Amino acid sequence: MTTTWTPDSWRDREARQLPVYPDAAVLAATEAELRTYPPLVFAGEARDLTAQLADVAAGKAFLMQGGDCAESFADFHPNNIRDTFRVLLQMAVVLTFASKLPVVKVGRMAGQFAKPRSGDTETVDGVELPSYRGDNINGLDFTAASRTPDPARMMRGYMQSAATLNLLRAFASGGYASLHQVHQWNLDFGGRSLWSEQYQALADRIGEALDFMAACGISPETVPQLKGTSFFTSHEALLLGYEQALTRQDSLTGDWYDTSAHMLWIGDRTRFAGSAHVEFLRGVGNPIGLKVGPSITVDDLLRLTDTLNPGNVPGRLTLIARFGADQVEGALPRLVRAIAREGRSVVWSCDPMHGNTVKAAGGYKTRPFDLILREVRSFFAVHRAEGTHAGGIHVEMTGQDVTECTGGAIAITDEGLADRYETQCDPRLNASQALELAFLLADCLKAEKADRDHRAAA
Ligand code: PEP
Ligand code: CO
Repeated sequence: MTTTWTPDSWRDREARQLPVYPDAAVLAATEAELRTYPPLVFAGEARDLTAQLADVAAGKAFLMQGGDCAESFADFHPNNIRDTFRVLLQMAVVLTFASKLPVVKVGRMAGQFAKPRSGDTETVDGVELPSYRGDNINGLDFTAASRTPDPARMMRGYMQSAATLNLLRAFASGGYASLHQVHQWNLDFGGRSLWSEQYQALADRIGEALDFMAACGISPETVPQLKGTSFFTSHEALLLGYEQALTRQDSLTGDWYDTSAHMLWIGDRTRFAGSAHVEFLRGVGNPIGLKVGPSITVDDLLRLTDTLNPGNVPGRLTLIARFGADQVEGALPRLVRAIAREGRSVVWSCDPMHGNTVKAAGGYKTRPFDLILREVRSFFAVHRAEGTHAGGIHVEMTGQDVTECTGGAIAITDEGLADRYETQCDPRLNASQALELAFLLADCLKAEKADRDHRAAA
């Protein structure tokens, strides 16, 4: 069944995970004001990302998507933005160097505020209050006032997104992301990261190559690509009123784009049949992500693929698999096979975070780094067995030296979690764990490339 799409056609569908605001009139007035605000991104940029993702779908590039589980108003600081951006650059360099593939960089940044929750309420010491749903909806403090959804938070979320995006654009094109800065991106927490040495060695090799190229006349002055990089933003399109208010018709094509970010995704809890979130995103021209977890069937997946990408446009749809280390090898192959059999063009990306969340002894929500690595390895193994491209990675990470996921080279223990557990929501990889993951991914991509070269030669 296809009905006409409009920016508000989602309102007739079942919307899960949306807050109930105390005053509908205030909400409507806030959304009306947001509709008059400038777009954060342009349609042409979203189309550019689709084109880059089409290369990923074709096996000619790799997608790296990462950032906070939930951005927060309290942690809004240029250093936090810079450090996350810097680690993403480092990871991209490691991957490009190993795989010889371009890496498409997408931040979970500049708009990742709204969170789906497993329970509508939370009970602490016998007091029951609405769950925290992200800073653009309500506050983390456990008081009735803070947990009451407040439309004014959307305005603050918009402003923070605009300022974050502005800084990211400046970093990406203003010289910071020039390959000549490859050494400066290294962030060694007082020698605490074993992987920063590996990174240093790689940066030395890149530096030598750049010197050699400069001697041959290839420098940022002659080749502008060496000066900067392209960087895109993304978030879960959960708070549909906000997303609708930022959805605008492109004057060039007449198509609708959600201008709150370049890429938007649908969470695992809001992709059910008849979902308002699926209805909304099917009508916007941006590249779309779909989280795919253990409850999905082959039929569900093919139906969603049809709905979200009826024209089978390469780069339009990224399937983000998040099964957990124990389930991925059992569940993923039949989905990958069905998509290939039906000739659907998708990017397959791996989210090794959301299926591997456990409670540590001290009560902290954590993710053992070993499970994360195991899911990544299995994801690559499945794709190698199926002859398909393991196209991307989707991680919750930060440039800060937090202690939220256990394990890694500087083994964080259950007891150590309390040291710097700072996330607003899910546990993130710290800078050193993120870099360690990049080196593992580099090995996986090298193996995939060797297979490909072998097949091409045969
Ligand atoms: C998330 O990416 O933060 C998230 C909630 O993921 P999922 O929908 O896959 O559970
Ligand atoms: Co999360």
